[in-house]
Amino acid sequence: MTGKHTPEEKLAVLNETARAMMTELELSALLDLVLERVSLLFGVDRCAVLHVDKAHGVLRLLRSVGYDSLGGEEFSIRVGEGISGWVASSGLPAFVEDVKTDPRYVSGVRGAVSEVAVPLRRKDQVIGVLDIESTSRLSLGDFDMELLTLFASQCAAALYNASLVRELEESQRQLETRVREQQVLNHVGKLLGDVLPLDDVLREILKLANEVLRFRSCAILLPEHEERDVLRIRAAIGYPANVVEKVRIRKGEGITGGVFRSGIPRLVEDVTRVADYIPGVLGGRCEMACPLIARGRVLGVLDAEGESAGCFSEQQFVLFSTFASQAAVAIRNAAMLERTQAVYYQTISTLANALEARDRYTRGHSERVTNLAVRIAHRLGMRDEELDIVRQAGLLHDIGKIGITDDVLNKADGLSKEERGEIEHHPQFGNNILGQLKFLRDACHAILHHHERYDGNGYPGGLLGCDIPMVARVIAVADAWDAMTSDRPYREAMDERKALTEIVGNAGKQFDPDVVRAFMAVLGYEDRAA
Ligand SMILES: [Fe+2]
Repeated sequence: MTGKHTPEEKLAVLNETARAMMTELELSALLDLVLERVSLLFGVDRCAVLHVDKAHGVLRLLRSVGYDSLGGEEFSIRVGEGISGWVASSGLPAFVEDVKTDPRYVSGVRGAVSEVAVPLRRKDQVIGVLDIESTSRLSLGDFDMELLTLFASQCAAALYNASLVRELEESQRQLETRVREQQVLNHVGKLLGDVLPLDDVLREILKLANEVLRFRSCAILLPEHEERDVLRIRAAIGYPANVVEKVRIRKGEGITGGVFRSGIPRLVEDVTRVADYIPGVLGGRCEMACPLIARGRVLGVLDAEGESAGCFSEQQFVLFSTFASQAAVAIRNAAMLERTQAVYYQTISTLANALEARDRYTRGHSERVTNLAVRIAHRLGMRDEELDIVRQAGLLHDIGKIGITDDVLNKADGLSKEERGEIEHHPQFGNNILGQLKFLRDACHAILHHHERYDGNGYPGGLLGCDIPMVARVIAVADAWDAMTSDRPYREAMDERKALTEIVGNAGKQFDPDVVRAFMAVLGYEDRAA
Protein backbone atom coordinates (compact mmCIF):
# COMPACT_ATOMS: atom_id res chain seq x y z
CA MET A 1 0.00 0.00 0.00
CA THR A 2 1.23 3.34 1.02
CA GLY A 3 4.82 2.50 1.40
CA LYS A 4 6.03 5.99 0.64
CA HIS A 5 5.47 7.26 4.17
CA THR A 6 6.70 5.79 7.42
CA PRO A 7 4.34 5.63 10.42
CA GLU A 8 6.37 8.42 12.06
CA GLU A 9 5.92 10.63 9.04
CA LYS A 10 2.19 9.92 9.05
CA LEU A 11 1.91 10.84 12.71
CA ALA A 12 3.87 14.02 12.05
CA VAL A 13 1.38 14.99 9.32
CA LEU A 14 -1.49 14.20 11.67
CA ASN A 15 -0.01 16.46 14.38
CA GLU A 16 0.61 19.23 11.93
CA THR A 17 -2.99 18.97 10.74
CA ALA A 18 -4.20 19.07 14.34
CA ARG A 19 -2.16 22.24 14.97
CA ALA A 20 -3.48 23.88 11.81
CA MET A 21 -7.00 23.08 12.91
CA MET A 22 -6.50 25.03 16.11
CA THR A 23 -5.91 28.23 14.19
CA GLU A 24 -8.38 27.73 11.33
CA LEU A 25 -12.03 28.22 12.11
CA GLU A 26 -13.62 28.11 8.72
CA LEU A 27 -15.13 24.67 8.09
CA SER A 28 -14.45 24.29 4.36
CA ALA A 29 -10.79 25.32 4.83
CA LEU A 30 -10.41 22.76 7.64
CA LEU A 31 -11.96 19.94 5.63
CA ASP A 32 -9.85 20.79 2.57
CA LEU A 33 -6.78 20.57 4.79
CA VAL A 34 -7.73 17.13 6.13
CA LEU A 35 -8.69 15.76 2.70
CA GLU A 36 -5.51 17.01 1.14
CA ARG A 37 -3.37 15.36 3.87
CA VAL A 38 -5.31 12.08 3.72
CA SER A 39 -5.01 11.78 -0.04
CA LEU A 40 -1.33 12.68 0.18
CA LEU A 41 -0.55 10.16 2.95
CA PHE A 42 -2.54 7.26 1.52
CA GLY A 43 -1.74 7.89 -2.10
CA VAL A 44 -5.42 8.12 -3.09
CA ASP A 45 -6.96 10.88 -5.11
CA ARG A 46 -10.64 10.43 -4.25
CA CYS A 47 -11.53 11.45 -0.81
CA ALA A 48 -14.71 12.97 0.65
CA VAL A 49 -16.34 14.14 3.84
CA LEU A 50 -20.09 13.58 4.06
CA HIS A 51 -22.36 14.71 6.89
CA VAL A 52 -25.50 13.08 8.21
CA ASP A 53 -28.68 15.00 7.44
CA LYS A 54 -30.89 13.40 10.09
CA ALA A 55 -34.06 15.17 9.03
CA HIS A 56 -33.90 13.60 5.56
CA GLY A 57 -32.06 10.35 6.44
CA VAL A 58 -29.24 11.00 3.98
CA LEU A 59 -25.53 11.59 3.88
CA ARG A 60 -24.70 14.81 2.09
CA LEU A 61 -21.38 15.63 0.50
CA LEU A 62 -19.61 18.45 2.30
CA ARG A 63 -16.14 18.54 0.68
CA SER A 64 -14.27 16.26 -1.68
CA VAL A 65 -11.09 15.93 -3.71
CA GLY A 66 -10.68 13.89 -6.88
CA TYR A 67 -14.36 13.24 -7.65
CA ASP A 68 -15.59 14.77 -10.90
CA SER A 69 -18.89 13.01 -11.21
CA LEU A 70 -20.49 13.43 -7.80
CA GLY A 71 -22.52 16.39 -8.90
CA GLY A 72 -20.69 18.85 -6.68
CA GLU A 73 -22.07 19.58 -3.25
CA GLU A 74 -25.51 18.42 -4.32
CA PHE A 75 -24.47 14.75 -3.97
CA SER A 76 -26.21 12.68 -1.32
CA ILE A 77 -26.76 9.02 -0.51
CA ARG A 78 -29.30 7.40 1.83
CA VAL A 79 -28.13 6.37 5.28
CA GLY A 80 -27.74 2.55 5.10
CA GLU A 81 -27.08 2.59 1.36
CA GLY A 82 -23.64 1.76 -0.06
CA ILE A 83 -20.53 1.38 2.04
CA SER A 84 -20.47 4.96 3.39
CA GLY A 85 -24.20 4.69 4.15
CA TRP A 86 -23.58 1.44 6.03
CA VAL A 87 -20.82 3.14 8.07
CA ALA A 88 -23.19 5.99 8.90
CA SER A 89 -25.89 3.61 10.14
CA SER A 90 -23.65 1.09 11.92
CA GLY A 91 -21.12 3.56 13.32
CA LEU A 92 -18.32 1.13 12.41
CA PRO A 93 -15.42 1.72 10.02
CA ALA A 94 -15.27 -0.34 6.80
CA PHE A 95 -12.35 -1.29 4.65
CA VAL A 96 -13.28 -3.05 1.42
CA GLU A 97 -10.28 -4.17 -0.57
CA ASP A 98 -12.32 -5.13 -3.63
CA VAL A 99 -15.66 -3.41 -3.94
CA LYS A 100 -16.86 -5.91 -6.56
CA THR A 101 -16.98 -8.62 -3.91
CA ASP A 102 -18.94 -6.54 -1.37
CA PRO A 103 -22.76 -6.64 -1.61
CA ARG A 104 -23.02 -3.26 0.18
CA TYR A 105 -21.21 -1.50 -2.62
CA VAL A 106 -23.29 0.81 -4.80
CA SER A 107 -21.61 1.58 -8.06
CA GLY A 108 -20.74 5.24 -7.97
CA VAL A 109 -17.33 6.23 -9.20
CA ARG A 110 -16.16 4.51 -12.30
CA GLY A 111 -13.10 2.32 -11.89
CA ALA A 112 -13.17 2.10 -8.08
CA VAL A 113 -11.38 -0.94 -6.70
CA SER A 114 -11.01 -0.32 -2.95
CA GLU A 115 -13.07 1.81 -0.55
CA VAL A 116 -12.47 2.90 3.03
CA ALA A 117 -15.10 4.65 5.12
CA VAL A 118 -14.67 5.85 8.70
CA PRO A 119 -17.45 7.31 10.83
CA LEU A 120 -17.17 10.89 12.12
CA ARG A 121 -18.36 10.72 15.70
CA ARG A 122 -19.50 13.29 18.18
CA LYS A 123 -20.07 11.56 21.52
CA ASP A 124 -22.49 8.68 20.75
CA GLN A 125 -23.63 10.06 17.46
CA VAL A 126 -22.36 9.53 13.95
CA ILE A 127 -22.42 12.98 12.40
CA GLY A 128 -20.66 12.08 9.14
CA VAL A 129 -18.34 9.81 7.20
CA LEU A 130 -14.80 10.19 5.86
CA ASP A 131 -14.75 8.21 2.63
CA ILE A 132 -11.86 7.17 0.38
CA GLU A 133 -12.05 5.38 -2.93
CA SER A 134 -9.11 4.15 -4.90
CA THR A 135 -8.79 2.92 -8.49
CA SER A 136 -5.91 0.67 -7.43
CA ARG A 137 -6.12 -1.99 -4.75
CA LEU A 138 -5.39 -0.60 -1.29
CA SER A 139 -3.79 -2.61 1.43
CA LEU A 140 -4.28 -1.01 4.83
CA GLY A 141 -3.02 -2.25 8.18
CA ASP A 142 -4.45 -1.60 11.64
CA PHE A 143 -2.18 1.39 12.06
CA ASP A 144 -3.54 2.99 8.87
CA MET A 145 -7.10 2.41 10.03
CA GLU A 146 -6.29 3.97 13.39
CA LEU A 147 -4.68 6.91 11.65
CA LEU A 148 -7.75 7.39 9.43
CA THR A 149 -9.92 7.22 12.55
CA LEU A 150 -7.84 10.05 14.05
CA PHE A 151 -8.26 12.14 10.89
CA ALA A 152 -11.95 11.36 11.04
CA SER A 153 -12.09 12.62 14.63
CA GLN A 154 -10.43 15.86 13.47
CA CYS A 155 -13.09 16.24 10.79
CA ALA A 156 -15.78 15.51 13.37
CA ALA A 157 -14.42 18.18 15.70
CA ALA A 158 -14.25 20.70 12.85
CA LEU A 159 -17.78 19.85 11.79
CA TYR A 160 -19.07 20.11 15.33
CA ASN A 161 -17.33 23.45 15.97
CA ALA A 162 -18.60 24.84 12.71
CA SER A 163 -22.16 23.81 13.52
CA LEU A 164 -21.76 25.40 16.95
CA VAL A 165 -20.56 28.62 15.34
CA ARG A 166 -23.48 28.45 12.90
CA GLU A 167 -25.96 27.87 15.70
CA LEU A 168 -24.42 30.69 17.69
CA GLU A 169 -24.64 33.02 14.72
CA GLU A 170 -28.21 31.99 14.07
CA SER A 171 -29.27 32.50 17.68
CA GLN A 172 -27.44 35.84 17.68
CA ARG A 173 -29.32 36.83 14.54
CA GLN A 174 -32.65 35.76 16.05
CA LEU A 175 -31.84 37.62 19.23
CA GLU A 176 -31.02 40.78 17.30
CA THR A 177 -34.28 40.46 15.37
CA ARG A 178 -36.23 40.00 18.60
CA VAL A 179 -34.49 42.95 20.25
CA ARG A 180 -35.26 45.09 17.20
CA GLU A 181 -38.88 43.96 17.24
CA GLN A 182 -39.09 44.67 20.93
CA GLN A 183 -37.61 48.13 20.44
CA VAL A 184 -40.14 48.85 17.73
CA LEU A 185 -43.00 47.58 19.90
CA ASN A 186 -41.80 49.68 22.82
CA HIS A 187 -41.68 52.68 20.54
CA VAL A 188 -45.25 51.99 19.47
CA GLY A 189 -46.22 51.59 23.13
CA LYS A 190 -44.78 55.01 23.88
CA LEU A 191 -46.64 56.48 20.93
CA LEU A 192 -49.86 55.10 22.34
CA GLY A 193 -49.04 56.71 25.67
CA ASP A 194 -48.52 60.09 24.03
CA VAL A 195 -51.48 62.13 23.09
CA LEU A 196 -50.91 62.49 19.37
CA PRO A 197 -53.42 62.99 16.60
CA LEU A 198 -54.69 59.58 15.45
CA ASP A 199 -53.39 59.92 11.89
CA ASP A 200 -49.88 60.59 13.19
CA VAL A 201 -50.02 57.49 15.40
CA LEU A 202 -51.32 55.28 12.57
CA ARG A 203 -48.68 56.55 10.15
CA GLU A 204 -45.99 55.87 12.74
CA ILE A 205 -47.29 52.33 13.34
CA LEU A 206 -47.15 51.62 9.60
CA LYS A 207 -43.64 53.06 9.37
CA LEU A 208 -42.39 50.88 12.20
CA ALA A 209 -44.17 47.78 10.87
CA ASN A 210 -42.50 48.39 7.52
CA GLU A 211 -39.07 48.67 9.16
CA VAL A 212 -39.49 45.19 10.61
CA LEU A 213 -41.56 43.43 7.95
CA ARG A 214 -40.50 45.11 4.68
CA PHE A 215 -43.70 44.82 2.71
CA ARG A 216 -44.44 46.39 -0.66
CA SER A 217 -47.44 48.28 0.60
CA CYS A 218 -49.54 48.44 3.71
CA ALA A 219 -52.72 50.24 4.74
CA ILE A 220 -54.97 50.80 7.71
CA LEU A 221 -58.57 50.79 6.56
CA LEU A 222 -61.41 52.18 8.64
CA PRO A 223 -65.07 52.84 7.91
CA GLU A 224 -66.26 56.40 7.50
CA HIS A 225 -68.70 57.79 10.06
CA GLU A 226 -71.60 57.95 7.66
CA GLU A 227 -70.94 54.55 6.02
CA ARG A 228 -70.23 51.96 8.70
CA ASP A 229 -69.99 49.08 6.19
CA VAL A 230 -67.49 50.62 3.77
CA LEU A 231 -63.76 50.66 4.44
CA ARG A 232 -61.58 53.52 3.29
CA ILE A 233 -57.80 53.91 3.62
CA ARG A 234 -57.01 56.04 6.68
CA ALA A 235 -53.19 55.60 6.59
CA ALA A 236 -50.96 53.94 3.98
CA ILE A 237 -47.43 53.23 2.86
CA GLY A 238 -46.52 52.31 -0.71
CA TYR A 239 -49.77 53.30 -2.45
CA PRO A 240 -50.09 56.25 -4.82
CA ALA A 241 -52.27 59.07 -3.46
CA ASN A 242 -55.00 58.52 -6.08
CA VAL A 243 -55.36 54.86 -4.99
CA VAL A 244 -55.59 55.88 -1.33
CA GLU A 245 -58.31 58.35 -2.25
CA LYS A 246 -60.23 55.93 -4.48
CA VAL A 247 -60.31 52.70 -2.47
CA ARG A 248 -63.72 51.68 -1.11
CA ILE A 249 -64.17 48.15 0.20
CA ARG A 250 -67.57 46.94 1.32
CA LYS A 251 -67.93 44.61 4.29
CA GLY A 252 -67.50 41.03 3.05
CA GLU A 253 -65.92 42.10 -0.24
CA GLY A 254 -62.63 40.40 -1.19
CA ILE A 255 -60.00 39.35 1.34
CA THR A 256 -59.94 42.67 3.24
CA GLY A 257 -63.72 43.04 3.39
CA GLY A 258 -63.98 39.39 4.47
CA VAL A 259 -61.61 39.95 7.39
CA PHE A 260 -63.58 43.09 8.33
CA ARG A 261 -66.75 40.98 8.53
CA SER A 262 -65.34 37.81 10.13
CA GLY A 263 -62.80 39.40 12.49
CA ILE A 264 -60.44 36.52 11.67
CA PRO A 265 -56.90 37.35 10.44
CA ARG A 266 -55.75 35.84 7.14
CA LEU A 267 -52.41 35.11 5.52
CA VAL A 268 -52.92 34.46 1.81
CA GLU A 269 -49.75 33.16 0.18
CA ASP A 270 -51.02 33.62 -3.35
CA VAL A 271 -54.08 35.78 -3.90
CA THR A 272 -54.64 34.38 -7.39
CA ARG A 273 -55.37 30.98 -5.84
CA VAL A 274 -58.22 32.00 -3.55
CA ALA A 275 -61.78 32.31 -4.69
CA ASP A 276 -62.73 35.46 -2.78
CA TYR A 277 -59.87 37.59 -4.13
CA ILE A 278 -61.00 40.60 -6.12
CA PRO A 279 -58.23 41.69 -8.50
CA GLY A 280 -57.35 45.32 -8.79
CA VAL A 281 -58.65 46.51 -5.43
CA LEU A 282 -55.24 46.88 -3.83
CA GLY A 283 -52.84 44.86 -6.05
CA GLY A 284 -50.00 42.60 -4.80
CA ARG A 285 -49.59 38.81 -4.88
CA CYS A 286 -49.18 37.79 -1.25
CA GLU A 287 -51.46 39.36 1.36
CA MET A 288 -51.81 39.61 5.12
CA ALA A 289 -54.99 41.06 6.58
CA CYS A 290 -55.64 41.47 10.31
CA PRO A 291 -58.80 42.81 11.92
CA LEU A 292 -58.37 45.79 14.26
CA ILE A 293 -60.27 44.63 17.31
CA ALA A 294 -60.89 46.62 20.48
CA ARG A 295 -63.26 45.44 23.20
CA GLY A 296 -64.61 42.73 20.90
CA ARG A 297 -65.51 45.16 18.12
CA VAL A 298 -63.90 45.05 14.68
CA LEU A 299 -62.90 48.68 14.03
CA GLY A 300 -61.14 48.16 10.70
CA VAL A 301 -58.42 46.16 8.96
CA LEU A 302 -54.64 46.30 8.74
CA ASP A 303 -53.64 45.02 5.32
CA ALA A 304 -50.18 44.39 3.82
CA GLU A 305 -49.16 43.17 0.40
CA GLY A 306 -45.99 41.58 -0.95
CA GLU A 307 -44.65 41.41 -4.48
CA SER A 308 -44.29 37.63 -4.83
CA ALA A 309 -46.35 34.60 -3.77
CA GLY A 310 -45.44 33.25 -0.33
CA CYS A 311 -43.26 36.20 0.61
CA PHE A 312 -44.70 36.52 4.15
CA SER A 313 -43.77 33.88 6.75
CA GLU A 314 -45.92 32.66 9.64
CA GLN A 315 -43.59 34.49 12.03
CA GLN A 316 -44.08 37.76 10.12
CA PHE A 317 -47.81 37.18 10.21
CA VAL A 318 -47.74 36.82 14.01
CA LEU A 319 -45.78 40.06 14.34
CA PHE A 320 -48.12 41.76 11.89
CA SER A 321 -51.06 40.79 14.15
CA THR A 322 -49.29 42.54 17.04
CA PHE A 323 -49.10 45.75 15.03
CA ALA A 324 -52.81 45.33 14.24
CA SER A 325 -53.72 45.08 17.91
CA GLN A 326 -51.65 48.19 18.64
CA ALA A 327 -53.32 50.11 15.84
CA ALA A 328 -56.68 49.05 17.32
CA VAL A 329 -55.69 50.37 20.76
CA ALA A 330 -54.51 53.64 19.19
CA ILE A 331 -57.80 54.09 17.34
CA ARG A 332 -59.82 53.36 20.47
CA ASN A 333 -57.69 55.69 22.59
CA ALA A 334 -57.99 58.46 20.03
CA ALA A 335 -61.76 58.09 19.93
CA MET A 336 -61.93 58.20 23.73
CA LEU A 337 -59.60 61.18 23.85
CA GLU A 338 -61.67 63.02 21.25
CA ARG A 339 -64.80 62.39 23.30
CA THR A 340 -63.13 63.49 26.56
CA GLN A 341 -61.74 66.62 24.95
CA ALA A 342 -65.07 67.45 23.33
CA VAL A 343 -66.77 67.23 26.73
CA TYR A 344 -64.05 69.35 28.34
CA TYR A 345 -64.21 71.93 25.55
CA GLN A 346 -67.96 72.04 25.87
CA THR A 347 -67.66 72.60 29.62
CA ILE A 348 -65.20 75.45 29.17
CA SER A 349 -67.29 77.11 26.47
CA THR A 350 -70.31 76.91 28.73
CA LEU A 351 -68.28 78.48 31.54
CA ALA A 352 -67.08 81.24 29.21
CA ASN A 353 -70.67 81.99 28.22
CA ALA A 354 -71.75 81.95 31.86
CA LEU A 355 -68.92 84.37 32.63
CA GLU A 356 -70.00 86.81 29.95
CA ALA A 357 -73.61 86.47 31.01
CA ARG A 358 -72.70 87.73 34.48
CA ASP A 359 -73.07 91.27 33.27
CA ARG A 360 -74.60 92.93 30.30
CA TYR A 361 -71.40 94.75 29.43
CA THR A 362 -69.34 91.81 28.35
CA ARG A 363 -72.17 89.76 26.84
CA GLY A 364 -71.20 88.67 23.32
CA HIS A 365 -67.72 90.21 23.66
CA SER A 366 -65.79 86.99 22.94
CA GLU A 367 -67.89 86.20 19.92
CA ARG A 368 -67.46 89.68 18.47
CA VAL A 369 -63.71 89.61 19.14
CA THR A 370 -63.52 86.21 17.43
CA ASN A 371 -65.38 87.35 14.32
CA LEU A 372 -63.26 90.45 13.92
CA ALA A 373 -60.00 88.60 14.67
CA VAL A 374 -60.77 85.95 12.05
CA ARG A 375 -61.41 88.62 9.43
CA ILE A 376 -58.13 90.38 10.29
CA ALA A 377 -56.24 87.07 10.24
CA HIS A 378 -57.75 86.20 6.87
CA ARG A 379 -56.72 89.59 5.54
CA LEU A 380 -53.19 88.90 6.80
CA GLY A 381 -53.15 85.70 4.71
CA MET A 382 -53.12 83.25 7.59
CA ARG A 383 -53.78 79.60 6.67
CA ASP A 384 -56.91 77.60 7.60
CA GLU A 385 -55.18 75.87 10.54
CA GLU A 386 -54.12 79.26 11.91
CA LEU A 387 -57.65 80.59 11.49
CA ASP A 388 -58.84 77.69 13.65
CA ILE A 389 -56.40 78.79 16.35
CA VAL A 390 -57.67 82.38 16.05
CA ARG A 391 -61.23 81.12 16.54
CA GLN A 392 -60.34 79.07 19.62
CA ALA A 393 -58.20 81.82 21.15
CA GLY A 394 -60.81 84.46 20.37
CA LEU A 395 -63.63 82.59 22.07
CA LEU A 396 -61.58 81.71 25.13
CA HIS A 397 -59.16 84.66 25.47
CA ASP A 398 -60.72 85.92 28.69
CA ILE A 399 -61.56 82.52 30.19
CA GLY A 400 -59.08 83.31 32.99
CA LYS A 401 -61.48 86.01 34.25
CA ILE A 402 -63.54 83.15 35.72
CA GLY A 403 -61.31 83.49 38.76
CA ILE A 404 -61.92 87.24 39.23
CA THR A 405 -64.72 88.41 41.48
CA ASP A 406 -67.59 90.43 40.06
CA ASP A 407 -66.68 93.36 42.31
CA VAL A 408 -63.23 93.73 40.86
CA LEU A 409 -64.31 92.95 37.32
CA ASN A 410 -67.07 95.57 37.28
CA LYS A 411 -65.33 98.23 39.34
CA ALA A 412 -65.85 101.60 37.74
CA ASP A 413 -62.57 103.14 38.78
CA GLY A 414 -59.78 103.21 41.29
CA LEU A 415 -58.43 99.68 41.13
CA SER A 416 -55.96 98.95 43.92
CA LYS A 417 -52.55 97.47 43.13
CA GLU A 418 -53.76 94.03 44.31
CA GLU A 419 -56.94 94.28 42.23
CA ARG A 420 -54.95 95.27 39.15
CA GLY A 421 -52.64 92.29 39.79
CA GLU A 422 -55.72 90.08 40.02
CA ILE A 423 -56.99 91.28 36.66
CA GLU A 424 -53.60 91.03 35.01
CA HIS A 425 -53.33 87.44 36.16
CA HIS A 426 -56.23 86.35 33.89
CA PRO A 427 -54.10 85.40 30.81
CA GLN A 428 -51.96 83.16 33.01
CA PHE A 429 -55.01 81.69 34.73
CA GLY A 430 -56.64 81.00 31.35
CA ASN A 431 -53.49 79.25 30.23
CA ASN A 432 -53.59 77.11 33.38
CA ILE A 433 -57.17 76.04 32.75
CA LEU A 434 -56.73 75.24 29.06
CA GLY A 435 -53.17 73.94 29.23
CA GLN A 436 -54.48 70.43 29.87
CA LEU A 437 -55.94 70.28 26.37
CA LYS A 438 -53.25 69.41 23.85
CA PHE A 439 -55.46 70.31 20.90
CA LEU A 440 -55.69 73.87 22.31
CA ARG A 441 -51.93 74.18 22.79
CA ASP A 442 -51.43 76.92 20.17
CA ALA A 443 -54.58 78.75 21.20
CA CYS A 444 -53.35 78.67 24.81
CA HIS A 445 -50.11 80.28 23.80
CA ALA A 446 -52.04 83.13 22.17
CA ILE A 447 -54.36 83.46 25.19
CA LEU A 448 -51.38 83.71 27.53
CA HIS A 449 -49.98 86.62 25.50
CA HIS A 450 -53.07 88.55 24.36
CA HIS A 451 -52.20 91.46 26.68
CA GLU A 452 -48.61 91.82 25.54
CA ARG A 453 -47.74 95.12 23.87
CA TYR A 454 -45.78 95.42 20.64
CA ASP A 455 -43.32 97.79 22.38
CA GLY A 456 -42.64 95.22 25.13
CA ASN A 457 -44.59 96.99 27.90
CA GLY A 458 -47.43 94.50 28.20
CA TYR A 459 -48.01 91.47 30.40
CA PRO A 460 -47.41 88.73 31.51
CA GLY A 461 -44.14 88.20 29.61
CA GLY A 462 -43.20 91.71 28.48
CA LEU A 463 -42.62 90.16 25.04
CA LEU A 464 -41.51 92.48 22.25
CA GLY A 465 -42.66 92.71 18.60
CA CYS A 466 -42.51 89.46 16.70
CA ASP A 467 -41.78 87.48 19.88
CA ILE A 468 -45.48 87.85 20.66
CA PRO A 469 -47.44 85.05 18.95
CA MET A 470 -49.10 86.36 15.76
CA VAL A 471 -52.54 85.13 16.86
CA ALA A 472 -52.12 87.07 20.15
CA ARG A 473 -51.24 90.26 18.21
CA VAL A 474 -54.42 89.85 16.13
CA ILE A 475 -56.62 89.18 19.19
CA ALA A 476 -55.12 92.23 20.94
CA VAL A 477 -56.38 94.61 18.24
CA ALA A 478 -59.82 92.98 17.96
CA ASP A 479 -60.14 92.89 21.77
CA ALA A 480 -59.22 96.58 22.18
CA TRP A 481 -61.62 97.62 19.42
CA ASP A 482 -64.54 95.72 20.92
CA ALA A 483 -63.76 96.94 24.44
CA MET A 484 -63.62 100.59 23.32
CA THR A 485 -66.78 100.42 21.23
CA SER A 486 -68.89 98.64 23.89
CA ASP A 487 -70.44 100.10 27.03
CA ARG A 488 -68.52 99.38 30.19
CA PRO A 489 -69.65 99.85 33.81
CA TYR A 490 -67.31 102.77 34.17
CA ARG A 491 -67.88 104.48 30.80
CA GLU A 492 -70.08 104.56 27.76
CA ALA A 493 -69.06 103.14 24.40
CA MET A 494 -66.48 105.24 22.63
CA ASP A 495 -67.29 106.84 19.32
CA GLU A 496 -66.03 104.58 16.47
CA ARG A 497 -63.96 107.33 14.87
CA LYS A 498 -62.26 108.08 18.17
CA ALA A 499 -61.60 104.38 18.75
CA LEU A 500 -60.07 104.08 15.28
CA THR A 501 -57.78 107.01 15.96
CA GLU A 502 -56.79 105.39 19.23
CA ILE A 503 -55.87 102.14 17.54
CA VAL A 504 -54.02 103.72 14.63
CA GLY A 505 -52.17 105.99 17.08
CA ASN A 506 -51.00 102.92 18.95
CA ALA A 507 -49.66 101.07 15.89
CA GLY A 508 -46.03 100.21 16.67
CA LYS A 509 -46.61 100.95 20.39
CA GLN A 510 -49.39 98.77 21.75
CA PHE A 511 -50.20 97.05 18.45
CA ASP A 512 -48.40 95.38 15.56
CA PRO A 513 -48.58 97.93 12.67
CA ASP A 514 -49.21 95.14 10.12
CA VAL A 515 -52.18 93.91 12.15
CA VAL A 516 -53.50 97.47 12.47
CA ARG A 517 -53.25 97.89 8.69
CA ALA A 518 -55.19 94.66 8.13
CA PHE A 519 -57.77 95.73 10.74
CA MET A 520 -58.29 99.09 8.97
CA ALA A 521 -58.67 97.31 5.65
CA VAL A 522 -61.24 94.95 7.14
CA LEU A 523 -63.25 97.94 8.41
CA GLY A 524 -63.04 99.51 4.96
CA TYR A 525 -60.47 102.18 5.73
CA GLU A 526 -57.88 101.11 3.18
CA ASP A 527 -56.64 104.71 2.77
CA ARG A 528 -56.02 105.32 6.42
CA ALA A 529 -54.48 101.83 6.76
CA ALA A 530 -51.56 102.91 4.61
FE1 LIG B 1 -58.20 89.92 28.27
